[in-house]
Amino acid sequence: MQQNKMRDDIWQRLQSVKNLQTQPAMVAKITQMLQNPATNASELGEFIKSDPMLASTVLRLVNSAFYGLPGRVGSINHALVLLGFSTVKNIVLSASMLEMFKVDTGSSKFCATELYKHSLACGVIAQYLAQTTGYEQKEECFVAGLVHDIGKMIILQVLPEEFKHVIECADKTKILFYDSERKLLSVSHQEVGGMLVEQWHLPPQIQDAVSSHHNPSPDSKLTAIVHCADVFARVLGYGNGGDDKIPEISDIAWNMLKLGNVNLANMFDDIEKEWQKANAYF
Ligand SMILES: [Fe+2]
Ligand SMILES: [Fe+2]
Repeated sequence: MQQNKMRDDIWQRLQSVKNLQTQPAMVAKITQMLQNPATNASELGEFIKSDPMLASTVLRLVNSAFYGLPGRVGSINHALVLLGFSTVKNIVLSASMLEMFKVDTGSSKFCATELYKHSLACGVIAQYLAQTTGYEQKEECFVAGLVHDIGKMIILQVLPEEFKHVIECADKTKILFYDSERKLLSVSHQEVGGMLVEQWHLPPQIQDAVSSHHNPSPDSKLTAIVHCADVFARVLGYGNGGDDKIPEISDIAWNMLKLGNVNLANMFDDIEKEWQKANAYF
């Protein structure tokens, strides 16, 4: 009973927050614009150019090895021509998300940049898994992976003291961040993240991937992909999600992606190559 009360209380505090120190407003604006089918390349170009920070980050990302472009790309318009609208959309989202993670957590046990790396790795691996398992919406996988743990940043901003306790408890008792927050807060970052991406008007399948990535159902291949990408990012040690545990992989996700038929050593080698390219920028 008391747990329910605490849960309601925390939920209310989370929902009542309008102005977080992080930049969800900016990210929300970008995601809304990108979700609008009427948005075209020149509007996207104008938008990027209107924010010098965003423009320089986009150009740095465009010129990183990940995108494998032959020469140096010096202008946003050139980037759009060479990479195409959808890829630049992903870059804009990654760049604006990066800003959200530039936060001092006040804890020696948790670094937001490491969480960003973990999130980016999850996006890169999810995109790889989409390719290798025949899921057509590759970019959706990248976005879902990138935002899957965004709820952690919201809890950190809204409930900093509670967040510290969750981190300490996960560290001391060697449990997952996810189990620690459910134990101490009765709400989890996947619920909170799901709420946020719903506010951002991301498509329902991405909302599901965020709000169920720790317990995927058989109904969503995207959620299964993000679940596995999250576990693989941890197995391979890319960034840090807030604890040192590797969660058990869900049978549902494993079977849905037919990973039993895959040579895992080869797959991890391929993922490592993709990650090195993406990581070159950071
Ligand atoms: Fe998570
Ligand atoms: Fe994660």
